[in-house]
Amino acid sequence: MTDNCLETIDLTHRFADGAVVLDDIGLRVAAGGIYGFLGPNGAGKTTTLKLILGLLRKQRGEIRVFGRDFARHRLEILRRTGTLIESPSIYGHLTAAENLRVWRKLYDCPEKRIGETLALVGLAGTGSKRASRFSLGMKQRLSLAVALLHEPSLLILDEPTNGLDPHGIIEIRELLKTLNRERGLTILVSSHILSEIEKLATHVGIIDRGRLLFQGTLEELVKRQERASGIAFRTSDPPGAVAIFEQTGLAARIEGDRVIVPLVENARVARLNAELVGARIDVYEIETVKSDLERIFFEVLSLES
Ligand SMILES: Nc1ncnc2c1ncn2[C@@H]1O[C@H](COP(=O)(O)OP(=O)(O)OP(=O)(O)O)[C@@H](O)[C@H]1O
Ligand SMILES: [Mg+2]
Repeated sequence: MTDNCLETIDLTHRFADGAVVLDDIGLRVAAGGIYGFLGPNGAGKTTTLKLILGLLRKQRGEIRVFGRDFARHRLEILRRTGTLIESPSIYGHLTAAENLRVWRKLYDCPEKRIGETLALVGLAGTGSKRASRFSLGMKQRLSLAVALLHEPSLLILDEPTNGLDPHGIIEIRELLKTLNRERGLTILVSSHILSEIEKLATHVGIIDRGRLLFQGTLEELVKRQERASGIAFRTSDPPGAVAIFEQTGLAARIEGDRVIVPLVENARVARLNAELVGARIDVYEIETVKSDLERIFFEVLSLES
């Protein structure tokens, strides 16, 4: 038995125009964790989440939630899942409590959940104010309240901080962390902003052009990124350079006409250079090399600015 709250197996999807949008996606969302589903615009995040929730018709692959096949246990799974995908369904002419009352009937949960949930998302004091007068951050919190009303054990959110100002982003992030910590809620949340996921998630999946490039804990991601990056020295004598680097205790490898060592600080790069020159090895070029993962990181990061 796995401790995955949600997993997809070989999820593959193509839209009518024929292009493959998702290719063999195997998400593993650990129970009790916060899974950050990270990828640049058009990577396939929304498509994946919609497939998971049955909002798009599944073409190939398997989806298991709470250990059950989604296709066969759809209603039971949805009853235990809170979702926020695309624009929130909020009635502008109703107050926060009135909005929740509409959903309460649908979910068939007790009246007391309305007050509890409003308090949880920090909207208890909004009284007779209509939702149309809410700030964007308040609207987003009301949408989250709708998603939380029936006390789900899994929350699936598609870019819940999109369009919010820095203050609103922090509010939502802190709320999600609290829900995870205090109520054990498993959260699957998508974002195109790496720094946002770093501050929130325990696990990360990185998707790009429909492929899952990385999946693991946040610590594993940082380690892998460090491992895959390094400093490249192009010199007149690569084997000689390797010997010198290894004498200083650095692991070095030859790649083409370059020698790669792990990332070290600038002062150490300068010392290594001096050692090479001292040993009469000509140094033509020194540069930082980035892994593929880092390229994705940069793409993702550059969307922030
Ligand atoms: N209904 C559709 N028909 C055809 N192609 C689509 C459709 N919806 C999405 N796509 C394409 O599928 C790819 C993935 O889109 P998706 O919306 O899942 O990406 P995303 O990661 O959510 O991006 P964003 O960060 O912009 O929300 C994109 O290339 C998009 O153009
Ligand atoms: Mg999207």
